[in-house]
Amino acid sequence: ETGLVTLDEGFVNTGSTRSAITFLNGEEGVLRYRGYAIEELAANCDFVEVAYLLIYGDLPNEAQIKEFREGIRDHTMIHEDMRSFYNGFPRDAHPMAILSSVVGALSTFYQDSMDPADKEQVEISIYRLLAKLPTIAAYSYKKSVGQPFMYPNNSLDYCENFLHMMFATPANEHMVDPDFAEALNLLLIVHADHEQNCSTSTVRMVGSSNANLFASISAGIGALWGPLHGGANEACVNMLEQIAADGGDVEKYVRMAKDKTDGFRLMGFGHRVYKNFDPRATIIRKSCDKLLAKLNLDDPLFKIAQQLEQVALEDDYFKDRNLYPNVDFYSGVIYRALGIPVQMFTVLFAIGRLPGWIAHWSEMHSSPSKRINRPRQIYTGSTEREFKPLSDRN
Ligand code: SDX
Repeated sequence: ETGLVTLDEGFVNTGSTRSAITFLNGEEGVLRYRGYAIEELAANCDFVEVAYLLIYGDLPNEAQIKEFREGIRDHTMIHEDMRSFYNGFPRDAHPMAILSSVVGALSTFYQDSMDPADKEQVEISIYRLLAKLPTIAAYSYKKSVGQPFMYPNNSLDYCENFLHMMFATPANEHMVDPDFAEALNLLLIVHADHEQNCSTSTVRMVGSSNANLFASISAGIGALWGPLHGGANEACVNMLEQIAADGGDVEKYVRMAKDKTDGFRLMGFGHRVYKNFDPRATIIRKSCDKLLAKLNLDDPLFKIAQQLEQVALEDDYFKDRNLYPNVDFYSGVIYRALGIPVQMFTVLFAIGRLPGWIAHWSEMHSSPSKRINRPRQIYTGSTEREFKPLSDRN
C-alpha cells in the first residue's frame, strides 16, 4: 500500500545492495577492505597491493603482485592522439571535467577491451584504467600550468611516477621525495573504497546496463566531483583558507554552520554512515602531523583545522547530530604539503577510489542474478486527468 516494492536479488525493499568488498560499521567507526582493517592496510601495504586486494579479493603473493605491477607498467602511457584532446579544453578547465571526458574517451581508443562479458578484455581494461588515470590526471595539471606533459617513467613506483609526471619538466629532473610518495600512498589507500557511496553506486548503476568499464568509471568521476561527496576535500581547503583570511575566527564559522547561514556547512564534517569518527580521518590526521613535522612545515590551515575540530566537537549542535571530521577534513592539508594544487584534490580522490569502483563493477557483473538496476519509486504526481485542447486552456 505504500508503493514500496521488494526488488529482486541484490536489492531488498530497504534499497540495500549485497556486496562482499567493504565492511563499514558507522557506529563504531570500523572500515575493512575484504575483511582487513583499514589501519592494518594503511600501515603495511602500498596502494597497488590494496588495489589488487579490492579487485581480486585476496592480498597478493609475491608472484601475483609482481605480475600486477608489471601489467600496470605496460599501460601507463595514453595513445599519442589522445594528447590532442587537451588542446581543446580551456586553460582553466576543471581537472575533474577533463578526467571524466578523457576516461570516457578511452572507449574510443581501446575498443578491444570493451566487452564486460569477455574476461580477457575486462582484465586489460582494468590494467589500462589503473595505469592511465594518473597519467591523464597529471596531464590535466600540466595543461593548467602551461608546462609540457611528462611521459610516465616506469622505473618509478605508482605514486612516485604520478608525482614525477606532475612536477618534473624537460628542463629539470624532479627527484620525488620518498616521504611525499609515502604520504600519497597512504592517502590513496584510505580513499580506495567505501561500499555503496554515491559515486560507487553510480558505477554499479551504469555498469548494470552492460556499459563498458571506461564509460562506467567516467560516470563515477562525475558523481565524485560533487562538493557533498569527493569535491568536499577541495571545498574544505577553500573553507579553511576563507577562515584564515578572516582572521582565523573559527567560532564565527561554527556559528554560521549551526545557524545554517546561507546553507553554510563545515566542509569535511559529517557523514551519512559514520556516526562516530571516520577512521580514515584519524589515520590522515596522524600522517599530517608526521609529514608536516618531517618537512618542518607550519601550515596555518592545519592549525585552523585542529581548532575547528576542537570547537565543533565540544558543541552540542555537532554532538547531537554525530558530526565528526570525515576523510576530506585533513586530506587537503597533506595534498598542500605535497604541492598538489587545490583543484587537483578531488582528482587524487578519484585515483584512490578507482580500484574500489572497478571491484564493485566486477562484482556486479559476476553476480549470478545480475540484472539492470531499475529502482522503483513512490508516485506523488496527479491522478489521471482529462486532456484539454489548447483552445480550452485558460
Ligand atoms: C564523502 O558516502 C560515503 O561513504 C562518502 C565518502 C566516501 O568515501 O565515498 O565517505 C566520501 O563524501 C565524505 C563526505 C564529504 N562531504 C562533506 O564533507 C560535505 C559536508 N557534509 C555534509 O553535507 C553531510 O554531512 C553529508 C552530505 C556528508 C551527509 O549528509 P546527510 O547524512 O544527508 O546529513 P543531512 O544533510 O541530513 O544533515 C543532518 C543534519 C542537518 O541538520 P538538521 O536538519 O538536523 O538541523 O546535520 C547537519 C544538517 O544541516 N549537517 C551539518 C553538516 N553535515 C550535516 N551541519 C554543518 N556542517 C556539516 N558538515
